Amino acid sequence: MDSQYQLYIGGKWVDSKNRFEVRNPANGQVLASVPDADVSQMAQAIESAVQVERYWAQRPAQERSRILMDASRLMRERKEELAKILTSEEGKPLTEARGEILYAASFLDWFAEEGKRIYGDTIPANSPDKRILVFKQPVGVCLAITPWNFPSAMITRKLGPALAAGCPVIVKPSELTPLSALEIAKIFEEAGLPQGVLSIIVGRDAAGLTEVAMEDPRVRKISFTGSTEVGKHLMQQAASTVKRVSLELGGHAPFIVFPDADLDQAVKQAVVAKMRGMGETCVAANRFYVHEKIMESFAEKMASHFRSMKVGNGLEAEVQVGPLVNKETLEKVERHVEDAVNNGAIVVTGGRRAEIPGGYFYEPTVLTHTDDSMILSREETFGPVAPLFSFCSEREVIEKANQTPSGLAAYFFTRDVGRVFRLSEQLDYGILGANDGLPSTAQAPFGGMKESGLGREGSKYGLEEYLEIKYISLGGIQGKSD
Ligand code: SIN
Repeated sequence: MDSQYQLYIGGKWVDSKNRFEVRNPANGQVLASVPDADVSQMAQAIESAVQVERYWAQRPAQERSRILMDASRLMRERKEELAKILTSEEGKPLTEARGEILYAASFLDWFAEEGKRIYGDTIPANSPDKRILVFKQPVGVCLAITPWNFPSAMITRKLGPALAAGCPVIVKPSELTPLSALEIAKIFEEAGLPQGVLSIIVGRDAAGLTEVAMEDPRVRKISFTGSTEVGKHLMQQAASTVKRVSLELGGHAPFIVFPDADLDQAVKQAVVAKMRGMGETCVAANRFYVHEKIMESFAEKMASHFRSMKVGNGLEAEVQVGPLVNKETLEKVERHVEDAVNNGAIVVTGGRRAEIPGGYFYEPTVLTHTDDSMILSREETFGPVAPLFSFCSEREVIEKANQTPSGLAAYFFTRDVGRVFRLSEQLDYGILGANDGLPSTAQAPFGGMKESGLGREGSKYGLEEYLEIKYISLGGIQGKSD
């Protein structure tokens, strides 16, 4: 990790007038200083992207693929170093950070291959002297706004398809985790990405920087991962120049356990679905619906897993639960638990800050006797808290699970195949983990329904988000043959 970073604009490393410090959420230590970009630097990044737009669109797919493959290889080769940087700025334990680097590289691999398969169509025409040919082209300059909870993977999940499709991209990472983003710029520079195709704009004036891009008609697409509130605002801003919009927004995932489930397997997967990234993921299980017949044993097994998890600085070996990313996140978790307890919830384990000085630590928490009056039944907690709600019928639990404006991920555990299909069809969620607490993978279409977002990332569908469809109606075909 460097102690001083620069911005990457139009293929050059540059400074800004101001700088700010990036801190480790485990102990508050300063990790590095980064430039605080101003709006003129966002404008420069757009200008550079526009200059190179046609050139990049016309490169053969194989050439773009090679660059993505090289970038992926470099990421894997530097896994250890990148993981340490990621853990230091975000907090997640090193083993998870290593996993995220591989997850990030997997999007580059996937789209390096998919980009070679951007096929067109021919369509029977409406007249004998015409032919209709459909082809696809890159949408153009893209803005990618990425979150702090996956500082590497959420960048490559956007960068992979955009670059494979032939779009230049400006990445605006979270100001909490800019170091991983700038390391990705180094990797692409080394992999031979032409100057101007990628810029990384780090800055604290998120609204101002974004506005420049949102108002520029030459930016044709925005892809955002973050809060529903900001996503709605971006959608409104995009309307003025009718940009393509992809949004991966908040979730409020139900995790349903039926009495016929393999209980040990369900508990194991519940721990993954809840505790990955300390619960700070959009797909985190946020409401556990456990059938009344198995509530007691499920709660005890889950609490015993949680009690065994070591909380601490993610860089330390054996740590499984790192700090939350900042004070606001920690305070929100506290507020949710406090409200639940004041309204009758019982703390089976956790329920308070972990006593580790200097960082934003919260103990893995299991609550029972929770009900719909509590904030955590309605809002995403984004922390290591598992509230267990009791249910008694399939119909009732489907209704409860769907009682939210969110629709990102839902999980359910049962051995009944008929029930797997009934739930899959009736739950209003884009991602369904049937006996699976970790459904995310590069080849699957990640994305939500309702207020959880628009569009899909990863998979063959993710590439379509960066492509325009055109057709040629070719006339005058039936001339005389010689
Ligand atoms: C997210 O929480 O936004 C992403 C999680 C994932 O890719 O699994």
